[in-house]
Amino acid sequence: MFQQVHIIELPKIPDEKGNLSFFENSKHIPFDIARAYWIYDVPGGEKRGGHAYRILQEVIIALSGSFDVILNDGKEEKKFTLNRSYYGLYVPKMIWRHMENFSTNSLALIVADQPYRAEEYIRDFEEFIALKK
Ligand code: TYD
Repeated sequence: MFQQVHIIELPKIPDEKGNLSFFENSKHIPFDIARAYWIYDVPGGEKRGGHAYRILQEVIIALSGSFDVILNDGKEEKKFTLNRSYYGLYVPKMIWRHMENFSTNSLALIVADQPYRAEEYIRDFEEFIALKK
């Protein structure tokens, strides 16, 4: 499962007036985007996530500041520190993931190939492990 996880380097247009990055549906993001959401004003020491998705795939970008994304494929755990706005972390379906170590004023942008549906979440780690077998 981890072989699908990778960092996507997004276009970066450097300019002395300020840098610019972007992504286009399906071109830089390896799926059709159905939804974008963002996480901000995270109090120090707080964790977000702590679940897996049944079919949803996503790309996580630290638009501002930094945070860690901890992924678990049911066998091993890997930590990805995101701290550049032109790097996206691709996370496929059925990976347990949480986010932590948010810096002050960090901004996490997540784009996903599915609309929000509560049934899409696996929130119980034991259930996740059982489904991975
Ligand atoms: P949740 O995904 O559980 O947050 P996290 O995993 O980061 O702790 O979402 C928190 C709440 O927001 C939950 O009640 C569902 C709601 N929500 C939506 O309504 N739409 C969305 O696109 C997202 C991501 C969450």
